[in-house]
Amino acid sequence: MSDHKNQGFATRQIHAGAQRDNHGALCAPIYQTATFAFESAEQGGRRFAGQEDGYIYSRMGNPTQTVVEQKVAALENAEAGLATASGMGAIATALWSSLKAGDHILSDDTLYGCTFALLTHGLTQYGIEVDLIDFAKPELVKKSIKPNTKVVYFETPCNPTMKLIDIAQIAAIAHEADHPIHVMVDNTFCTPYLQRPLDLGADSVVHSATKYLNGHGDVVAGVIVGKQDFITRCKSYGLKDLTGSVISPFDAFLLNRGMKTLDIRMDRHCQNAMALANMLAEHPAVRKVYYPGLPDFEGYAIAKKQMSQFGGIISFELNADRAAAANFLNHLELATIAVSLGDTETLVQQPASMTHTAYSPEQLAEVGISEGLIRISVGLETTDDLLAAFKTGLDQVKTR
Ligand SMILES: Cc1ncc(COP(=O)(O)O)c(C=O)c1O
Repeated sequence: MSDHKNQGFATRQIHAGAQRDNHGALCAPIYQTATFAFESAEQGGRRFAGQEDGYIYSRMGNPTQTVVEQKVAALENAEAGLATASGMGAIATALWSSLKAGDHILSDDTLYGCTFALLTHGLTQYGIEVDLIDFAKPELVKKSIKPNTKVVYFETPCNPTMKLIDIAQIAAIAHEADHPIHVMVDNTFCTPYLQRPLDLGADSVVHSATKYLNGHGDVVAGVIVGKQDFITRCKSYGLKDLTGSVISPFDAFLLNRGMKTLDIRMDRHCQNAMALANMLAEHPAVRKVYYPGLPDFEGYAIAKKQMSQFGGIISFELNADRAAAANFLNHLELATIAVSLGDTETLVQQPASMTHTAYSPEQLAEVGISEGLIRISVGLETTDDLLAAFKTGLDQVKTR
């Protein structure tokens, strides 16, 4: 456990992982090097044998990367962390380090599109059994655990329907099984500022650090945190030998820089999203709003229980046909039509035709992702400007 555990979140997001170099640089330097010099052949041998700490080669660790890893671990209350080249790099590294042919992974059915593709089109090719079910039904989770289940995997809130899953309840069910099951949670939508799955019983957390952790839309990165022995396995086997999904020193530098303001940014994302969700819910052109902070939203009680605020992502459906939805997006002021989320800019996209195309039309319907669903990543713009832009756009929608 990090020695920052008695400090507040803001102190940790700034100071955890920070080390002064020989020159006293305030900011962690970018160690732009592929390899590290050994003082002797014997020292090189000791490092490879794990008998001496120290850097070897940047696929196996780099000081700029270490800063990020220690910071996210401190924020998630984890023993250790591992930074990767992307969120998918983190997920693939963590899963490949946990599963082998013949094992079973039980996952929620509503996932980021590429995670869905990794599970259903990827892992299955290598003899891993994959079942996707609705984790909002805990009894079903209990019934679906098999003797070979090794990993239970989910996001909450889920991308893009904002379905809420009770982390403590699912972790308890998995851990009650008569063999060890690893509970892995994708905490991308919340960040440790809003939700800490390890404190609720999960075994590891994966992140697309591309999103809120970095927060500025200029880096693709990922992070895994968990127990030291799990992270060591992810690092020295999963990442080093299987995925090679190494974060560059420059991206690690930018990520560390972004995380220093995580709490302030998340507060504003949440405030703007709450205001926008309330406005959308009142507007006659809107059929349904999917936002955990609305008291009549299905997952509201779970969100209240496990999140400190309700996050910056809203999905909604218009009271209009598909063409009208596209027309609305094409004419919306201030918001940019783009995938990704967690940036300073407000971004809008249509999951059915963009981020979630790995799902078939039938699979989309099953998990409630309609053709016209619009996902908003609410940015940090002035609240009134955002409200005005969406209101102007909605006022022009021809409702059915
Ligand atoms: C919830 C979630 N997890 C993982 C990922 C994958 O992250 P990356 O794009 O950094 O590989 C995404 C990307 O949108 C995501 O939304």
